[in-house]
Amino acid sequence: MTPQTPVDVTALVQAMTLDEKLSFVHGSDDPEALGQSGYIPGVPRLGIPELRLTDGPAGVRMKRKTTTALPAPIALSCAFDDELAARYGEYLGHEARAKRQDVLIGPMLNVLRQPFGGRNFELYGEDPLLVTAIGTAVVNGIQSQGVIAMPKHFAANNQEENRMTVDTVVDERTLREIEFPAFEAAVRAGAGAFMGATNGVNGHPSCQNETLLTTVLRDEWGFEGWVMSDWDAVHDTAAIEAGLDQEMPDGAHLGEPLREAIAEGRIDEAVLDRAVARIVGQMARFGLIGDDTPRPETTRDAERGRALALEVATAGSVLLHNPRGVLPLSADKLTEPGPAAHGLAVIGRPAAVPKTAGVGSALVVPEHAATPLDVLRTRLGDDAVEFRIGEDPAGRPIPESALVPAFREGEVPAGPSTEPDYFYEGELTIETEGRYRIAVTALGGYAAIDLEGHPRVFAGSSFGDTAGLTVDLLPGTYKLVLSALPMPNNPVHLTLGWVTPQQAQADIDEAAEAARGARAAIVFAYDELAELIDRPALALPGLQDTLISAVAKANPNTVVVLNTGSSPTMPWLDDVAAVLDVWYPGEAGAEATDALLFGDANPSGKLTQSFPVDADHTSVAGDPLRYPGVDGRVEYQEGIFVGYRWHDEHAVAPLFPFGHGLSYTTFGYEDLRLTARGRELKVTCTLRNTGERAGRETVQVYLGSSPDVPAPQAPKALAGYATAHLEPGATTTVDIVLDARRFEYWNTDTGTWTVAAGPRTVSVGRSSADLPLTATVHVDPAGTVSP
Ligand code: BGC
Repeated sequence: MTPQTPVDVTALVQAMTLDEKLSFVHGSDDPEALGQSGYIPGVPRLGIPELRLTDGPAGVRMKRKTTTALPAPIALSCAFDDELAARYGEYLGHEARAKRQDVLIGPMLNVLRQPFGGRNFELYGEDPLLVTAIGTAVVNGIQSQGVIAMPKHFAANNQEENRMTVDTVVDERTLREIEFPAFEAAVRAGAGAFMGATNGVNGHPSCQNETLLTTVLRDEWGFEGWVMSDWDAVHDTAAIEAGLDQEMPDGAHLGEPLREAIAEGRIDEAVLDRAVARIVGQMARFGLIGDDTPRPETTRDAERGRALALEVATAGSVLLHNPRGVLPLSADKLTEPGPAAHGLAVIGRPAAVPKTAGVGSALVVPEHAATPLDVLRTRLGDDAVEFRIGEDPAGRPIPESALVPAFREGEVPAGPSTEPDYFYEGELTIETEGRYRIAVTALGGYAAIDLEGHPRVFAGSSFGDTAGLTVDLLPGTYKLVLSALPMPNNPVHLTLGWVTPQQAQADIDEAAEAARGARAAIVFAYDELAELIDRPALALPGLQDTLISAVAKANPNTVVVLNTGSSPTMPWLDDVAAVLDVWYPGEAGAEATDALLFGDANPSGKLTQSFPVDADHTSVAGDPLRYPGVDGRVEYQEGIFVGYRWHDEHAVAPLFPFGHGLSYTTFGYEDLRLTARGRELKVTCTLRNTGERAGRETVQVYLGSSPDVPAPQAPKALAGYATAHLEPGATTTVDIVLDARRFEYWNTDTGTWTVAAGPRTVSVGRSSADLPLTATVHVDPAGTVSP
C-alpha cells in the first residue's frame, strides 16, 4: 500500500490549475462508462490517474454487468463472525480491483434504529458493539486489497422516508454510544474516505455539518481521509468549508458555483486545496499515484466469490422457530412410498425467482443464481415436488377486455435518453371492486407505472426488476401509463401483468390444495426492502400472511423460509412448524437454504435485530415525531434505548429477541469464571454440545447497568461474543475479553467517556433473553475491574 517514492501531495496540489483542482471535488462522467457509481478524471499530466468509486456493501455493483452477489450485510452480521466479515471485505476489495475500481463505497455503518428502514438489509444490526466489530473487519478486508473503503452514511442515517430533507434531532450521548462507535472505529482502522448522509443532524445537513465533519471526525478522531457527499446531499458551496471534500454525483455546488465563490472571494482557494490534498493524499497512500508503483493486475475469482457467498448465507441464516423438530427435513421420509400424492409442496415466488438481494445502490446482479425449486427438485426428484406460486407479484397478462389498447410485451431499444421514453398508454377497466395488483417487469433497464390517482412506481435494476402497486379499486376506467428508460447499451424488455382479487384467491386455494396432498410444505416468503422507500408496514407484503395461514391449515408440517431484509410480523407463527430466515442470501442462497433445510448444514446464525411483535411494540411507536418525523424533523426520543435495550428497559417482549437463533443440536453453558485484567475483564465459560449433531454456537456476554450511576443505562448491553464449533458431546473453553470502553458511558456533563463504577452483572448465554450464567463484578471509579 505504501508507494516506493513518497508523493509530495502539497507540491502536486500547487502544480494544479484551478480547473484541475475543481475536477477532484465533484463527480464526472466516466468516459469509459464502466458502470460504477462515481468517477474523478485525475490529472494525467501530473501522473495522477482517474479515480473510480463503486457501490457497495453487498458486492461490487457495476450497473448492468454481472458480479458476485454476496448475501446482504444483515446476513453477514448474523454469523457473529469477525473473521468471516474480514474475508467478505477482502472479497469486495479483490473484486473491486478486478473491475478497475479504486474506492468501494461501503460498508454502511449506521445502526438499525427502527424496523421500517428501507435499507435495514444493508446494515449490521442494532447493537453498536457488533456493528463496530463487523464493520471494522469489512473495512480492513477491503483495504487489505489496496482499495479505499468508504464507510457511510455519516451520520444518523436511519430512515429512507424523507431522507433528503429530514433533520434528525438526537442527543449527544445517543450519538456517542449508539451511532458513532462504528464510524470512530473505522477511522482508527484507517478508512481512507467517508460518505456523508442525506439527512440533517441537529439542524444542519450532514454533508455541511461542521460539528460532524470537522469537530468530531477530524479534530477529535483524527481522520485524515476525505469525505464525499451522498448523491445530491450538498445544498450549497459552504459544504466545503464545513469539511466536505467531494460532491456527488456532479458539481451542482462544488463545480461552477464554487469557482464563482472563489473568484468573488467568498471562499478561500486554500479551502479547495485542502479538499484536493485530502483526496490526493489518500490516492498516494494507497499507491494509486507514482510511476514506480504499478498496481498488479488482479482478475476476478468468481469461484471464490461463490464459495464465500455460500458460506456466509449458510452461517448467517437464522432458524427462528422449530418447536416440534420438523426441521431438518428427511429426503427419505418425504419420498418414501405412501398415500401422499407427492412429497413436498413448494410455494411462493422466491422459490422460482430467487430473491438474492435488496434493492437500490446495494443491488448486485449475479451471473447465475439457482432457484430453490430446482435445487429441491434435484435433491428429491421432480415427481416429489409440487410447485404453486401462491402469491404472484409479477401478475398475469391483462386481457384485452380490461385494457385498451392491448398491451404487447416488448422491447424499447437501447438509447442515450435520460428521461423516460413514452412507451404505452391505455385505459384499464375494472368491473368488480376489490384489491388489484398492477405490476411491471423491466429487464435490462427501467420502467415506471402511472395509474391514475396513485403514486408512480419504478421497476428496474435499482428498484428490483418487478415492481407493482397493490390497490383497492372501484369499478370504473383508469388511465394507465407505462414509461420505459433503456440503458445506453441495453434495450429494456417490458412485461405488464395484473392479479385480480379472484386470481389472488385462486392462487391461494391452489397452494393450500397442493400442501394438503403433501407430507410437508415449504412457503418461501419475502419482503421488498428498497433504498428510497421505507416499509409501509411490518407485515409481509401482499397476501402472503393469508397464504401462509391457508397453507399451514392444510398441512401441519408447514415450514416458512423467509427472504427478508428485516423483521416481518408473523400472525401465523403458532400455526407453522418452522421458520428459517435466510435473508437476501446472494447468489448461492438456494444451495444454502437447501443444505439448512435438510440438515447438511446446521443453522447457527443469531438475530442482530429484535423482531417486534407488531408496529405498536417498538421504540418508535406512539408518536410520529419518533418516526417518520413531523414537518421534516424526527426526534430520537428513545435515546440510547435502541433495539433490545428498549425492549429490556420497558419490559416489552419481542417476537424474537436479539441474539436468538436455534440449532439442530443443543448447547450447555457451565462454569463461568471472571478474571480481572486492570480495566479489562476476561470472561471464561465451558460450552458443551449436549445434542446429537455437530454445530456452531455464538456465546454472548452482556453487561448490566450500574446502580451507582445517575444517568440512564441499558439494563444490559452486548459486551463481547465468540463462536465455537463443537462435535456432539464435545466441550470447549471459551474466553471473551471485555475492553475498558464496555465499563464506560458518555457523560454529557463533562463531554467525556466516564467509568460507570459500581457493581455490574455479567451474563453469558445463547441470546439476549436466555442467559444461563451470571456473576457480578465491581468496577471502581478509575475503571479497575474486580470479580
Ligand atoms: C446512496 C448511497 C450510494 C449512492 C451511489 C445513493 O443514493 O444513498 O449509499 O452509495 O447512491 O449509488
